[in-house]
Amino acid sequence: MAEVLEKEDIIINTMASLPPTSTKTTDQPAVKKITAESINCYFGKVHALKNISFAIPEHSVVAIIGPSGCGKSTFLRSINRMHELIPDSRITGKLTLDGDDIYAMDAVVVRKRIGMVFQKPNPFPTMSIFDNVSAGLRMNGMRDKKALAEIVEKSLKQAALWNEVKDSLSKSGISLSGGQQQRLCIARTLAVSPEVILMDEPASALDPISTAKIEELIYELKKDYTIAIVTHNMQQAARVSDYTAFFYMGELIEYDSTKSIFTIPKKKQTEDYITGRFG
Ligand SMILES: Nc1ncnc2c1ncn2[C@@H]1O[C@H](COP(=O)(O)OP(=O)(O)OP(=O)(O)O)[C@@H](O)[C@H]1O
Ligand SMILES: [Mg+2]
Repeated sequence: MAEVLEKEDIIINTMASLPPTSTKTTDQPAVKKITAESINCYFGKVHALKNISFAIPEHSVVAIIGPSGCGKSTFLRSINRMHELIPDSRITGKLTLDGDDIYAMDAVVVRKRIGMVFQKPNPFPTMSIFDNVSAGLRMNGMRDKKALAEIVEKSLKQAALWNEVKDSLSKSGISLSGGQQQRLCIARTLAVSPEVILMDEPASALDPISTAKIEELIYELKKDYTIAIVTHNMQQAARVSDYTAFFYMGELIEYDSTKSIFTIPKKKQTEDYITGRFG
């Protein structure tokens, strides 16, 4: 009985913070933006991803949860083709973006269409706030100063940072606080108009106010983008995502609507993890 109460308490507490529209109804077939088909990833002898198959629906937020070392970052990085330069790494299976094989596309195009935000904010240290946000555009050959300024402003507004930096765009990116730097990195990602945004624990180093800002932002962004977010924070997964994938030791144990995962998980391992019994 005590055990049941404990589980229900956690679930009720988690669900209480869900925004009312956070979980989409699943009656309409969603368009698959990204699909993973039997993905296996190896680093030398380490078999980091084992036969992972699932789809990320367009304009949704998918949370990837699971204990440390279970392959969450490896999965995100596989989508963005970030393992290619790692000696001894190998990937098998198929990853698609809008039905096209990601590994048959030009890697530069993949990274333009699929942006990534890392756990640790990583602004370009020698660049101003303005140059950080416009870096990708300038790299793609855009020179029109007015157009650059417009996109920088729009991206900073989308990332909920504009009001804090609009009078100091020439200041160094690394002069900002950690939470501001993370929003700067999000603005930098948005500036090149990706279709998908991958976020690897984007708020893990931030205070509750900055975290709340990033969560609100994710909620706003899903109107225009498809988002996958890795998080160790169960409340955050419940608050921001429509679907949740639970990974354990390189395997995808369960994938379902976030509401189902947090209220009626089908697998015992999922239940144990979300109720804090392991991991
Ligand atoms: N570049 C690499 N070289 C060798 N092994 C790696 C590399 N990247 C990941 N691994 C291994 O792959 C496995 C999965 O790691 P991954 O970083 O994906 O875990 P994670 O779920 O993101 O963990 P955490 O929650 O701690 O960030 C681990 O055993 C890790 O040691
Ligand atoms: Mg990780």
